[in-house]
Amino acid sequence: MLQKMPAANRQFFIGLAVGHISAFVLISFNVLAYIPVHFSVLQSYYEDIYNKTDFTSYDDTAKMSNNQVLLVNDVHMHNDNDSVARKLKEQVRVLIWVLTSPANMEKRATAVKNTWARRCNKILFFSSKDNATFPAIGLNVPEGREHLTAKTMKAVRYIYEHHFDDADWFMKADDDTYVIVENLRYFLSGQNTSEPVFFGHHFKLFVKQGYYSGGGGYVLSKEALRRLGPKANDSSICRQDGGSEDVELGRCMEKLGVRTAESIDSMNRSRFHCFDPETHLSGNYHVTYAQYDSHGAKKGPESISDYAISFHTITPQKMQALDFYIYHLKPYGINSGNQDLNRREDKDLKH
Ligand SMILES: *[C@@H]1O[C@H](CO)[C@@H](O)[C@H](O)[C@H]1NC(C)=O
Ligand SMILES: *[C@@H]1O[C@H](CO)[C@@H](O)[C@H](O)[C@H]1NC(C)=O
Ligand SMILES: *[C@@H]1O[C@H](CO)[C@@H](O)[C@H](O)[C@H]1NC(C)=O
Ligand SMILES: *[C@@H]1O[C@H](CO)[C@@H](O)[C@H](O)[C@H]1NC(C)=O
Ligand SMILES: *[C@@H]1O[C@H](CO)[C@@H](O)[C@H](O)[C@H]1NC(C)=O
Ligand SMILES: *[C@@H]1O[C@H](CO)[C@@H](O)[C@H](O)[C@H]1NC(C)=O
Repeated sequence: MLQKMPAANRQFFIGLAVGHISAFVLISFNVLAYIPVHFSVLQSYYEDIYNKTDFTSYDDTAKMSNNQVLLVNDVHMHNDNDSVARKLKEQVRVLIWVLTSPANMEKRATAVKNTWARRCNKILFFSSKDNATFPAIGLNVPEGREHLTAKTMKAVRYIYEHHFDDADWFMKADDDTYVIVENLRYFLSGQNTSEPVFFGHHFKLFVKQGYYSGGGGYVLSKEALRRLGPKANDSSICRQDGGSEDVELGRCMEKLGVRTAESIDSMNRSRFHCFDPETHLSGNYHVTYAQYDSHGAKKGPESISDYAISFHTITPQKMQALDFYIYHLKPYGINSGNQDLNRREDKDLKH
């Protein structure tokens, strides 16, 4: 197959093979023929979205935060009965850590802080430099996409050393991830945190058992953190920097015997999402997405769980809007009630 390619392509594929031999072993040649891309293509797709976004327009976000409209307790403005959610908050304690940077503090990390972060049992922001007022924890790593792996490994190490007892589950998110924390707790209430397992939006490439999209967020059981924590700074198990953060974490987890597992709901609908709701609704996906996604790049409302957990590429303004749609806006006369959408067979499900 390589012989038939033009020289430039051949060199590209050989380069790719050197870096990602496991990918070559795993991807069938049939699929390979359609992948003239490096694994960071989705990453640069995200970057492209941001390069085309006019962040100056997000001054609106600051205005909304300043007049506190969305900062009051969600339920007190309504006639909601949140007793089940409050009970779960005690029973299923979640720590979420957000990777951010000094440049993103003011807009993106602030939007996270003012919206979904308030609903976590514990929230930690990690940056390259300490910011005592935000507050953010400085990990003393260089900024840039190519150093995200170092940020993640150091963050994991930090959480393992300082917050192991503060939660039952540990989730990583980016500063453009939106998390519906109540739905995260509901899903996890059906899972066993003593199992070496982690969950997220599953991609089927590069790692034998697959890995999870970094931006869609991934959540580690306590046992997963117990295994990863002591090894996150061990370069013989976990790559310390470079590569793609999510792929590297996936490789590391596989070596530590931490399993990927299914997180679709009882109607086979997705809970973790690597794009924004509009993209998953329309199916207007990046051309390579179908090669990554383990569930056939489904689209439309029927493919998304009522109890969806995460979305990605959410701008600060959209974060405020999602908070408004999910927690504020209500159709009169309709009480949704709670459904049981956890799968019974989850414990046995593997990818
Ligand atoms: C986004 O902008 C940065 C800085 O201008 C540039 O280095 C990078 O190549 C751009 N990325 C894409 C995908 O266009
Ligand atoms: C709120 O919901 C709980 C659980 O369904 C129920 O037991 C309780 O009676 C409800 N409280 C009110 C005030 O409706
Ligand atoms: C800390 O973050 C805030 C945004 O909340 C920003 O205004 C401030 O300049 C940051 N401080 C440092 C030392 O970076
Ligand atoms: C949870 O997993 C642990 C470790 O595998 C096991 O010992 C325990 O029985 C499980 N608990 C439940 C409720 O299944
Ligand atoms: C990882 O960090 C711990 C605590 O700082 C240290 O004891 C251990 O030697 C480090 N491991 C490696 C492989 O550097
Ligand atoms: C979910 O998928 C499984 C396996 O493909 C199928 O057997 C089942 O009928 C599906 N359930 C629903 C509600 O679509």
